[in-house]
Amino acid sequence: MQIDPFALERWFAEVEHGADVMLAESGVRPLQASRFDTDPGALGYVIPTAGDPAFRAEVGALHGRSADETVFTCGTQEANLLGFLSLLETHAVVVTPTYGSLTALPQALGVVTEVSLRTPTTETGSPQESTDTPGFADGGWALDPDAVVEAIRPDTDLVVINNPNNPTGRYHDEASMRAIYDACEDRDAYLLVDEVYRLLAEDPRPPVTSYGPYGVSTGGVSKSFGLAGLRFGWLCGSERVVTAAERWKDYTTISSPIVGQHVARQAIDRRETILAENRELVAEHRAVVSAFLDEHGLAWSDPDCGVNALVEVPDAFVDGAALCRRLVDEESVVLAPGEAFDAPGWVRIGFGLHREALDEGLARLGSFLDRHR
Ligand SMILES: Cc1ncc(COP(=O)(O)O)c(C=O)c1O
Repeated sequence: MQIDPFALERWFAEVEHGADVMLAESGVRPLQASRFDTDPGALGYVIPTAGDPAFRAEVGALHGRSADETVFTCGTQEANLLGFLSLLETHAVVVTPTYGSLTALPQALGVVTEVSLRTPTTETGSPQESTDTPGFADGGWALDPDAVVEAIRPDTDLVVINNPNNPTGRYHDEASMRAIYDACEDRDAYLLVDEVYRLLAEDPRPPVTSYGPYGVSTGGVSKSFGLAGLRFGWLCGSERVVTAAERWKDYTTISSPIVGQHVARQAIDRRETILAENRELVAEHRAVVSAFLDEHGLAWSDPDCGVNALVEVPDAFVDGAALCRRLVDEESVVLAPGEAFDAPGWVRIGFGLHREALDEGLARLGSFLDRHR
């Protein structure tokens, strides 16, 4: 089995540590541990290893599922891995651009057809054996349900979507998601949706696993809550899927961290306060970035949920990688090259960081852009 290097993680590993401003983070700024009781008692495994049953019932209920239809994982990353290991034998359809592991892991395990997000004003999407750069207009990067359904083959095991989407920050509408789900159910294929940003939405839409037996939702507390260090996530789906995921989990991490579960439970119990705080920060920062880009005449993917967006690369640079390299060298500010998402004409910005850091990063980016007109 072969796996591509995780381009985004490799870029961050190279530059993040030494840089002054990380302007490409994918989560909301981390919460302080002092806001929580961090003492779970004995530091053993979580027993049962799928997670505390009462807490699983609580997380399951947020997804229209029971405790037995919920398994806790080490972050959303493990939840996705377990989903792929359990459900993918031959072929997957993956909607792109997306978070790297959602294409690389299925590619390592089977054959993938990518379907790109399209704009309402360009030609409708078609399975991306084509090499088109994803389009942009009218706040686009829209999901094209017909293109996704068209890409489903008789041997397709699973369709994979990240909604709300990283890197575009677009929250795909419920009608499109349901149309794709219905097609999956008709064709005996699962629809796995990474919903790690869902609770950041002002009005989160129903999770895909609540649509029916072929819907699988993954998520966790890293992004919406700002608690990535807990390494706490979940997978919710039918009992058959969850049982298969648990079988693999015995070989991956056994249980999620007990400190992670202990603190995540408090965060979920206090979710109204934490999420309101985080949503306010995101709305404020989005407006700041939007005004900055207007001022510099740059288009972006007009995010409607989450803390990420794609920003177009100005003509002065050949591609996103070139811009990111010069920016880090000259201003010690990190953006993420669109190449990491197969979108070389773009860079990903992350605006979930602390406000002072955001202001500093944009000020440096502004002088950089002025110098390279
Ligand atoms: C869409 C998406 N899924 C999963 C992850 C990993 O999340 P976790 O920290 O919960 O493992 C990320 C991290 O950037 C992400 O953007």
